[in-house]
Amino acid sequence: MAAALLFSTALAAPAAEIKLGYALAEDSHYGAGAKAFDEALKAELGDAFTVKHFPSSGLGGEREVIEGLQIGTVDATIASSGTLSNFVPEVGVFDVPFLFRDLAHARAVLDGPIGDEMLVKFDDVGTHALAWGEQGFRHITNNRGPVAKPEDLAGLKIRTMENPVHLKAFTALGAAPTPMAWPEVIPALEQGAIDGQENPLSVIVSAKLDEVQKYASLDGHVYSPAIVMVSKKLWDSLDDTQKAAFEKAGDAAVAAMRGYVDTVEAEGVAALKERGMEVNELTPEDKKAFQDKLADVYVEYQAQFGKELMDSIIATQ
Ligand code: PAF
Repeated sequence: MAAALLFSTALAAPAAEIKLGYALAEDSHYGAGAKAFDEALKAELGDAFTVKHFPSSGLGGEREVIEGLQIGTVDATIASSGTLSNFVPEVGVFDVPFLFRDLAHARAVLDGPIGDEMLVKFDDVGTHALAWGEQGFRHITNNRGPVAKPEDLAGLKIRTMENPVHLKAFTALGAAPTPMAWPEVIPALEQGAIDGQENPLSVIVSAKLDEVQKYASLDGHVYSPAIVMVSKKLWDSLDDTQKAAFEKAGDAAVAAMRGYVDTVEAEGVAALKERGMEVNELTPEDKKAFQDKLADVYVEYQAQFGKELMDSIIATQ
């Protein structure tokens, strides 16, 4: 009996631990995605893997986490496009301001051939991308005053992601952009080192930015995709059945993130107003003034990413 027990214990393979790091809290869209990923993996593969969650930048900023994937010290992440173009520059096309009409348009592009082709490129940089998730459209928050026209941004010390496409746009709009990793943003806002930042409602609400920002201006200047990815080291260690299970888990994470975004898009503004934030929504005419001011850099984006690619994104239904 004792020998049989010893034998079966020796046969049971220990669960492999998946270190999953992400920038936001468990009750954010990333947390929702991470939970769905974990549950789907369990449903598919039982106890073969244990997902260990590191929310709230527990493994560092997004750039550090992706570098961790490359060297195999981190296994999985859900990250914004903020730093992605530092690894796969072509992905920066999704960061071009006012490129996507609405969430349905962005989802159609990311779920179609253009999105798929971009995912494949991550295999060349020591990672494996499973699917495109999302954060929603980014808006400006700050402590100086409402932003309704480009002139309202003049000299505004605004934190941007470490993303050259965003940096170029805010410079052209007349702001004073400062690229900064997310873990430094709330302390910098608290200390007044910067006036504002920009993020989608999903982040403004879940990170409680109303506690450090008075004004939210809903300009939707750029769509913010996110990505569900694993290290190449982990991916290459999986057999075909396990790979299929990870793909399914990636899809489950995306569905959960999009569900969260849909809800916060519908209810987030009321929640922020209730918490005392002053919120103004830009009209299509207001947004046009921002687009006009970006006309020259738009031509530069076309030269960088290819006019044909940008046109086919715009033409996607
Ligand atoms: O602003 C950013 O850096 C990103 O949107 C965040 C909040 C880290 C989520 O990916």
